[in-house]
Amino acid sequence: MKVSRLIITGTVALAVAGALNAMPAAADNVRPAEQSLRGLAQRHGLQIGTAVDMAALADTADPQYRATVASQFSTVTAENVMKWEVLEPTRGTYNWAPADELIAFAQRNRQSVRGHVLVWHNQLPGWLTAGVADGSISDTELRVILRDHITAVVKHFKGKIWQWDVVNEAVSDPWDSPPAIHYKGFWAQHLGDGYIADAFRWARAADAKALLFYNDYNIEVFGSGNAADDKTQFVYEMVKRLRETGVPIDGVGSQGHLGTQYGNYDTFQVSDALRRFTDLGLATAFTEVDVRSQMTAGVQAGDSNEINPRLQASAGNFGILLQACLSNRHCLSFTVWGFTDRHSWVPTWFTNPPEGLATLYDEAYQPKRALGIVKAELAFSGAPYVLPRIPQKPRR
Ligand code: G3I
Repeated sequence: MKVSRLIITGTVALAVAGALNAMPAAADNVRPAEQSLRGLAQRHGLQIGTAVDMAALADTADPQYRATVASQFSTVTAENVMKWEVLEPTRGTYNWAPADELIAFAQRNRQSVRGHVLVWHNQLPGWLTAGVADGSISDTELRVILRDHITAVVKHFKGKIWQWDVVNEAVSDPWDSPPAIHYKGFWAQHLGDGYIADAFRWARAADAKALLFYNDYNIEVFGSGNAADDKTQFVYEMVKRLRETGVPIDGVGSQGHLGTQYGNYDTFQVSDALRRFTDLGLATAFTEVDVRSQMTAGVQAGDSNEINPRLQASAGNFGILLQACLSNRHCLSFTVWGFTDRHSWVPTWFTNPPEGLATLYDEAYQPKRALGIVKAELAFSGAPYVLPRIPQKPRR
């Protein structure tokens, strides 16, 4: 064999090996438990994803984090680095580097990217909130700032984002004050609820192809059906109106932050909720799934009587959300909000009482019962009730 041919053959072999490493497929001769999540999800056409903590991804002392993101998931979401405070810490000066790094990582590993998030009331830069508070930024100017931000960000990432969370958590919860469900937070307060339609139009003008999502928590199931006390119904009526008035919204993201201490749902309830949204012509996705538990003294002391039921309940809830997603052909992706208890927002956020144990792997990257359930659902679900996804075309 000539040297040049040897080099070409070697290069092709390496490229193939690289591609296989980058995108493991389900292999019939490997036990499902040993297959990757992304390989198992592939036959449903389902993208399986995780939020990515960029500090953990860069940590050379924690190589398993990076390896797991690459090997197990087919879509990634920036946990923080596409938020406004990170992207534009100083007015007019964009810091694209951390988000670009995630995009490059995703491209190397053949992963799609969910963009999170264009409009949210949290993690806004100080210059913006302070300017509004001291009156140096008027509401009229604020609307222009929002338009310019959405346009700049969506254009920067154009062609690289599969789904954008355009508007996040715009709707109140029944425990808020006043209790009647309403448009809440900074943006509604200053711009009225019209900012929601505006945001979708501005995002579409900047990227004709990305799927544009409304994203929220506590919308996994419908309640009373009365929008005054049922958040899911309120969101349903909102997105229905947006569709009817020609606003370019393509999907609803259901975050899926659950807790084992609450009354839980069953698959049929969650599946019904997805179906009502997709009957409007929308796609859906689970965008931030985790199932946390209270870390009682017994749990913290390692008491298996207290730990085991929590791990089982957590696993059961992961399974319910995933089954519901699989049941609906327009549920395009299932993303977990962190995959290891080593890097999860839960213990830092819920401290009184402390909560944790919310993810698929423990702090030492050992698979938990939840990982087994998720893999088994992906492995053993199929026709006639589970069929491959139907991709939605962006609405223009
Ligand atoms: O970046 C600073 C760092 O400079 C500083 O040293 C450090 C000290 O505390 O804080 C760092 O910022 C933290 C940031 O995460 C990055 O780690 C913030 O304090 C912390 O509040 C922030 O928490 C994030 C939270 O959103 C903020 O609202 C979580 O990581 C993130 O998981 C969480 O994600 C949200 C979704 O975007 C929307 N849905 C709910 C979900 C969970 O709250």
